[in-house]
Formats: sequence, C-alpha cells, structure tokens
Amino acid sequence: MARAYNFCAGPAMLPEEVLQKVRHELLDYASSGMSVMELSHRSDAFKDILSEAEERLRRLLSIPEDYCVLFLQGGASLQFPMVPMNLGKGAYVITGRWAQKAYEAAKLQGRGEAFAGSADRDFEYIPKIDPSEIPGDADFVHICDNNTLYGTKFFKPPETGGRPLVSDMSSCILSAPVDVGKYGLIYAGAQKNIGPAGLCVVIMKKSLIPEDLPGSVPLMLRYKTYYEHGSLYNTPPTFSVYVANLVFRWLEEKGGLAAMEEVNKAKAQLLYDAIEESAFYVNKISPRDRSIMNVPFRLRNRTLEPLFLAEAEKAGLNNLKGHWSVGGIRASIYNAMPMEGVEALVSFMREFEKNNI
Ligand SMILES: Cc1ncc(COP(=O)(O)O)c(C=O)c1O
Repeated sequence: MARAYNFCAGPAMLPEEVLQKVRHELLDYASSGMSVMELSHRSDAFKDILSEAEERLRRLLSIPEDYCVLFLQGGASLQFPMVPMNLGKGAYVITGRWAQKAYEAAKLQGRGEAFAGSADRDFEYIPKIDPSEIPGDADFVHICDNNTLYGTKFFKPPETGGRPLVSDMSSCILSAPVDVGKYGLIYAGAQKNIGPAGLCVVIMKKSLIPEDLPGSVPLMLRYKTYYEHGSLYNTPPTFSVYVANLVFRWLEEKGGLAAMEEVNKAKAQLLYDAIEESAFYVNKISPRDRSIMNVPFRLRNRTLEPLFLAEAEKAGLNNLKGHWSVGGIRASIYNAMPMEGVEALVSFMREFEKNNI
C-alpha cells in the first residue's frame, strides 16, 4: 500500500521506520508477550522506555542539568492555564491564534497581559520585542515560537529583561537545535514532531517549579507533582511515550537536530522558491520570519483553491487545506515529511498552474 504525503498540521506524518517498528513490536514488546499498550506503567519495561525517552530528548536538545523533562497529558492546550497557575502573571506576545488562546487562559485567572503582537498585519510577521514595554509586574514572558496557522517563527528568542521566557514549541520542537538555557519553560504537544496526540512534553528550569501553591490548584495541575513522581504520578500516555522514544531514536539515527534543520531548511526553501517564482501563488509572510514547518499560501485566484485541494488529494498530497479560520492552502512539512513529498507538491503546483492559468 502506498503511503500518502500527509501535509496535515497535526496529527501529522510519523517516520515510516517508526511505524514499521511499532507494527513489528505491536503484539509482543521485548518478548513480554504483551503490547506496550498492555504493559503496566509501573513495570520495569515501561520505566525503561520512559527513562530512555528522557535521555534521548536530553541528548537531542542538549538540555542542561538544571532543567527537568516532564511527560504530561492534556495536549499543549492544558499548558495554557497550567503555566500561569504555576508561574504567576504572564506578559503575552500575540502572534496568532495559539498565542491568543494561551493569553486568554491566563486572563481568565487574572494573570495575563498582552503587550506586543502582530494582529495589525494579520499575523504576517514577528514583532520586535522591546523589553521596556514588558509589564513591570510580569513573572514571565510567553511566546508561541512557531505559528502553525500563519507560518511565522521566532528565529531568535526575544529579550525579556531577565524574566523567564515560556515558549509554546508545539509546531517546531525538534526541527532544529534550540538553546534551551535561554528559556524558562518550553512546552510542546506531541502530535507534530514527537508522536501521537495527547502527550505533551514540558522542559523547565527546576528552580521555576513552585514549592507551594494555593489549595485551589489541583495536584494534577502542579509541575511539582510530575517532577517529584518522575512523570508517574498517575498513568501517563504509555503508548504515546513509547512512540515518542522511537521518534527520538530515529532523530538520533538521522544525525540529530543540526542535520534535521539542514533538511528542513532545504524542504522549506524548495517550496517558498516555487511560490515566489510564480505569479499564480502567493505567500505574504515577511521572508525573514517564514516558518520552515508550516507554509501557508494562497492562489491569486482564490476560486481555484477548492479544485487545487481536490486534485492534490487525488495525487496523494493530503490535508493541504489551511486552518478553517484562515483559509487557503497550508503545507505542514514537519520532520517526517520526506524531501520527495515536497518535490511531489512542487511539481503538482507547477502542473496545476499550467492547466489553470
Ligand atoms: C502552536 C500550537 N499550540 C497549541 C496547539 C494545541 O495543541 P493541543 O491540541 O495538543 O492542545 C497547537 C495545535 O495545533 C499548536 O499548533
């Protein structure tokens, strides 16, 4: 059976080698006579998976010793309220829908203030952050590193005047090396570059974990709970952690994140060049802020977009529809999307242009 090139923004493509390994081990994991899904989360076999996943992630991202790695549930969205519950008042940079949602969750707690953003130009750029504009009473600054819907990216973490920087890296984690030490807390939903949906990875400076919180904050929403129990306070999403560990291993085998970045840049360049050199397609994102993971674009003649999408599906190029709130086309080209997938998309685009100009 031919596998489709899946350009979905998430859940997204997983590396075929990983899926083959999962299939191979599905009924009998490491001669246990059980699937990973049937293993106790307290078993040695699962604890090995969990610690291997953490070690590999630490190696891939060169995570400093004074940071912890937590495997949580609730997706990235649960971090929107959990971050302010634990860290206090946040100053938010609104660069798109996810940043806005994070801000709204903080505002509900009276712990969010938006001080910068790019709504004035439909989120088509990354704003310059002036640390003097950060509200004086903010305990942290929050950004969404890569804007999945609009296709923009912070290529350099902003200056925060010494406040911890919290970053939602759901759609760019593991796409390139990151200087983790520049962040106080990084979170990422798994379903793009890590593994199956539901799992959320948090990397945080241990000194930011609050010792004590008001009784109104449930134990399940305290970082301390997960840290003290090694992410085993309750049953973690065991199968998702297992697949994440295989994805981390695949990344190591591919040469790590610097090698990944090179391939990702080349894939993105191919697609941006194809858009630029055509009068038929358009991408309005400021070139220096263009994401290498999510590439949104439009057809100048927007009435042709439904036909473009239908014909792309027929050609095995799936899920190219832009987010419902934005429209247009979006190609999400995460780590697992091979160069051949982007090449196939680019030749489809050229052919479609020729036939519909
Ligand atoms: C940048 C970003 N943050 C947060 C989310 C929400 O993630 P989840 O559905 O895991 O809560 C997404 C989902 O696409 C995202 O792209």
